[in-house]
Amino acid sequence: DPDRVLLAIESTCDETAAAVVTRDGRVLGECIATQEKLHEQFGGVVPEIAARAHLQRILPVIQTAMQQADVQGHDLQAIAVADRPGLAGSLLVGVVAAKSLAMAWDRPLVAINHLHAHLYACQLSQPGDESVYPAIGLIVSGGHTTLYRCDSPIDLVYLGGTIDDAAGEAFDKVAAMLSLGFPGGVEVSRWAVKGDPTAYDFPRGKRNDGTFDFSFSGLKTAVRYAIVGPGRQDFSSIEISDQVKADICASFEAAVVDVLVRKSRRAVKQNRVRRLLVGGGVAANGCLRRELAKAADEDGFELVIAPPELCTDNAVMGAIAWKQIERGQFASLELDITPGLQR
Ligand code: KG4
Ligand code: ZN
Repeated sequence: DPDRVLLAIESTCDETAAAVVTRDGRVLGECIATQEKLHEQFGGVVPEIAARAHLQRILPVIQTAMQQADVQGHDLQAIAVADRPGLAGSLLVGVVAAKSLAMAWDRPLVAINHLHAHLYACQLSQPGDESVYPAIGLIVSGGHTTLYRCDSPIDLVYLGGTIDDAAGEAFDKVAAMLSLGFPGGVEVSRWAVKGDPTAYDFPRGKRNDGTFDFSFSGLKTAVRYAIVGPGRQDFSSIEISDQVKADICASFEAAVVDVLVRKSRRAVKQNRVRRLLVGGGVAANGCLRRELAKAADEDGFELVIAPPELCTDNAVMGAIAWKQIERGQFASLELDITPGLQR
């Protein structure tokens, strides 16, 4: 029955989100409460503040999504929640809410892998039912930079990932060094437009090492030296011109995009697939989207990137739970969280 609905809950990091989605991916109700303002002054997500904000917001957010969809607990086919990976305190709030509602309403529970859901957002953006699998999946977010071979929405093989910082984390840290605000990805890319991407020859970590792993910490250090010079710690006394700022942002962005594009296109080639799926907050980056499109054109594969609002954290991508329901993959009321999942 295409009109069956499920409730999906997302609280892995700093967005509290809920959505009511039909079997065929229509969104009947959706609510997202962002915490950007709460974390801005710290230049990054503070775990305890995130957990407390989720606690305050989770039930009102669920209530709003369900009211918008005009559904009650007994209308739901299942309750789905992201239980991995993410911040422990944040995950706990979503999972305990989902388990409580599943028990109160006597509905089955589904545990979602947040990274798989980020890639499923690409399928949601496709018109009709045409499957995007098999494909290579690239996730670029604040917490992850990972390549998978995707044989279906829920059959993913890990190919490689970052050995230190995530791509989005690098964007956020560079933004913090240049006092551009948080989250910094959007700000850095805005400055980058006005800069020269060849002004600085920043390192491309692991660029030609033959693996599908990434490393962005050397790049981050190189940016730091470009701003303050080696050895100096204090950013507050540094005066840099707008042109230098723009050049640093453009050169940094070019270095990140260079390795992401290079490794993704090699993964597509080696696995002989015809599509590349890209998800996560950094997939909203204009330079990355442009360069990936160029590579797709040259190599003859299809690029599938979700619209920006489905790239950043949301509950709509929790529609992946329908695929798990088809396979009878349900969770028990003893479900625990898995914060540190790497693969
Ligand atoms: O997927 P997401 O919303 O949350 C996580 O699961 O981490 O990704 C957030 C990350 C942040 O690091 C943010 O700076 C980055 O995505 N981001 C961007 C852009 N928009 C968001 N990075 C580069 N360019 C953008 N336009
Ligand atoms: Zn995410």
